[in-house]
Amino acid sequence: MKKRIGILTSGGDCAGLNAVIRAVAHRAIEGYGWEVLGLHYGTQGLLQNPKQYTKLTLDMLDGNMLRLGGTILGTTNKGDPEGHSAEIIAAIKELGIEAIIGVGGDGSLAILNKLMKKGDIKFIGIPKTIDNDLGSTEVSIGFSTAVEVATEALDRLQPTAASHDRVMILEVMGRDAGHIALNAGIAGGADIILIPEIPYSMKKIAEKIREINERGRNFALVVVAESVKTENGEPSFIVDPEGRKRYGGIGHYLMEKIADITEAETRCTVLGHVQRGGQPDASDRVLAAALGVHAVDLLANNKYNRMVAWNNRQVVDVPLEEAIAQYEAVNVNGTLVKTARGLGICMGDQ
Ligand code: F6P
Repeated sequence: MKKRIGILTSGGDCAGLNAVIRAVAHRAIEGYGWEVLGLHYGTQGLLQNPKQYTKLTLDMLDGNMLRLGGTILGTTNKGDPEGHSAEIIAAIKELGIEAIIGVGGDGSLAILNKLMKKGDIKFIGIPKTIDNDLGSTEVSIGFSTAVEVATEALDRLQPTAASHDRVMILEVMGRDAGHIALNAGIAGGADIILIPEIPYSMKKIAEKIREINERGRNFALVVVAESVKTENGEPSFIVDPEGRKRYGGIGHYLMEKIADITEAETRCTVLGHVQRGGQPDASDRVLAAALGVHAVDLLANNKYNRMVAWNNRQVVDVPLEEAIAQYEAVNVNGTLVKTARGLGICMGDQ
């Protein structure tokens, strides 16, 4: 009988998920002669009757798959897998799946790890999140494309800012971590970058805008991470139609404050899910390919409960629990913050 494995994507989507599904299926089917079932909507498809999954075949993986945004398997950051663990484990066993490869962020990987352990199912995690806040890996799938999109947004905001003598604020994603804002801000020539890891004052922001003005430049670009708090420490939330709180609103808050203090004409763009959709860039495709192939090789060598990771220019693997336990915020004394300051970018505090 052929070995059968399952692959699923879980949590918020990002660019590069189809590239990683493709890599996993290629390696497993072609390299080892296994069968690969693509499970729909994380573990949620296993709770349906009939169970929702697709048997992946090599002809499905050709053509556009590498370039395609989103995930052909669907994903979800809702539901309660832990509350349905017995049914999910039973469904995996009924399908004859010996091991699962789960592509997710820290939250999803933690839940999946617990679940698979309970059912004695071999599990390998592959890190994905545009936020790039997972420990034990220098980069996760989706981050590079998100930075690319945010940088392109700054490239497009700069000429319109200059044409209208405006301060343009770009609010980017990054739940609790400022990696996207910092990287895109440096790449896109921002004057001010605000991240949750560094407290800011409106006074410093106003000073920077005045300084730019005195040098004879008529516009400024500000990038702010969605999780930056108001000056008095309140997080900015919006409530989505399902009644859940999500980060949002800090860009507009800053727009009003900056307009008040500097009298500059100010506008705000909220980039939102644009950072998650669309084609993966080349770096995300390469990362997805490398992590996907290595995940399957680990199972072939009977290694599991590991997370594949990218470190020091190569793929490695680390104990899953160790990886999940490490949250990676921006290092405020690290290279990129120093680089930004070295370029004269105001980080809000000086
Ligand atoms: O964690 C990834 C992320 O895209 C965050 O940057 C953002 O805050 C959040 O997910 C948005 O989630 P949702 O898909 O629920 O809108």
